[in-house]
Amino acid sequence: MTRVAILISGTGSNMLHLCQSMIKEKYAKPVLVLSDQKRAKGLRLAKDLGIKVKYIDPFQYKNNNDSFDKKMVNELKDVQTDLICLAGFMRVLSPYFITQFPNNIINIHPSLLPKYKGLNTHSRALESQDSEAGCTVHRVTKKIDDGLILGQASVPISTSENPESLAEKVLRLEHVLYPIVLKRLINKKVIHDDYNNQN
Ligand code: GRF
Repeated sequence: MTRVAILISGTGSNMLHLCQSMIKEKYAKPVLVLSDQKRAKGLRLAKDLGIKVKYIDPFQYKNNNDSFDKKMVNELKDVQTDLICLAGFMRVLSPYFITQFPNNIINIHPSLLPKYKGLNTHSRALESQDSEAGCTVHRVTKKIDDGLILGQASVPISTSENPESLAEKVLRLEHVLYPIVLKRLINKKVIHDDYNNQN
């Protein structure tokens, strides 16, 4: 079975929906939730589900981002991770990290990519007077928010919308989209499960 690790920095609501879907529908196994934030709420949520959690302290590696990434890679390889889902992980992954899991890192971004890469996506959509907003699941490459789009979902923007209300609306959509895309990806066997092939 495909072994999935999830990287988070905060609330972990997407992580929770991914794990619940894997546990319920048994198409993959959540093997690790890893965070760069000690107090990330998601760590507690994952632990409550019986999933292995790991916190890595970025301050121990503050002058060397590559060492931080190497530590993460070791942890992920220790649990034989096939696929990595980024879910609100607020660090840019190094080229080294990305080449360790070729094609097997995906992310959810709160905009209709290629629009609004980076931060503050909801206020940018409102400033541009867009009629719709949404979220995108894509493959992670060395360029930020740039990899192949695997799935997208949209919601209309109402006239009374503000960045907070739009963020809430889009987050609810993320919770539906991310598990659907993950399951589809795994069932289509477009994930390279190197570890499974060895067994
Ligand atoms: C989500 O909006 C996600 O798209 C973005 O960060 C947020 C994480 O929320 N990358 P949560 O931690 O999953 O609740």
